[in-house]
Amino acid sequence: MGSTPVAGELLAIGELTPGRIALEFRAPTLIAGLRPGHALHLVRPESGGYRVRRVAPVSRVDLIRGSVEVALQPRADGGQDALAGLRVGDVIELNGPIGQPILINKGTMRLLLITDGEGFAWVRALADAATRAGISVTMLQQADTAADLPPPSLLPDVVEIVVATTDGSIGHRGTVAELLAEYVPWADQAVVAGGADIRAAATSAALRRRTTDRTSASGKPARARTAAAGDRAPWLQALLSHEIGCGIGACGGCTVATRAGQVRLCREGPAIDATGSTAKRST
Ligand code: FES
Repeated sequence: MGSTPVAGELLAIGELTPGRIALEFRAPTLIAGLRPGHALHLVRPESGGYRVRRVAPVSRVDLIRGSVEVALQPRADGGQDALAGLRVGDVIELNGPIGQPILINKGTMRLLLITDGEGFAWVRALADAATRAGISVTMLQQADTAADLPPPSLLPDVVEIVVATTDGSIGHRGTVAELLAEYVPWADQAVVAGGADIRAAATSAALRRRTTDRTSASGKPARARTAAAGDRAPWLQALLSHEIGCGIGACGGCTVATRAGQVRLCREGPAIDATGSTAKRST
């Protein structure tokens, strides 16, 4: 059980959003199996035999450079992460992929991504992959202020970016929750990644949409019911991140309760059916 560790040489250090470090590693033997939604375990030996292990979402894969970019999440306790001290040229151990890829149905042509500074790393690779596949992508981004937003250059030009800021310094003044009514009917599928507030707002919007679809069953066919045969992804997937743990489904440390039951984020997650309306993946 578990994957074979590979050595990853650090090629570059960047920043996705303020305070969110991105690390690009050369790992040509690893990248072919990586998909949006996957994470890697970063493992770095410390003095005394201690090994720092962190779960890091895959935020980009560069097949030309043979590299993978992962986002170093801030520690939950606010402390300094030893991995943040890595320098270009350092080599650490990479394990993965961790988790299951985000499911996108064959019939999906319009994809709505809902995110904030915390969740952006989890959906950046999906925006890349979806647009390459010809899917129209709209990303709703929430931040306190303009300075907290990820640079638009981190996304393909064809992604429509719609911003909501608490202070109104750019885009809609308020939250993405107030924009959902406009964009939910447009989307064939949606993915939310970020704090509890935007996950709750997106889930409520998905439940309202489902009710609307059922209500219209005797009238004009709803787009959701025209999905291609075999499509099995729920309309809304929510990405739940975890920080540390075994990464192989053994310790139970990443288990969360969902509407569909207990889920180990490192095995069945991190993408879950936010409304619990479809069967979970098997392990
Ligand atoms: S991290 Fe151990 S079961 Fe998921």
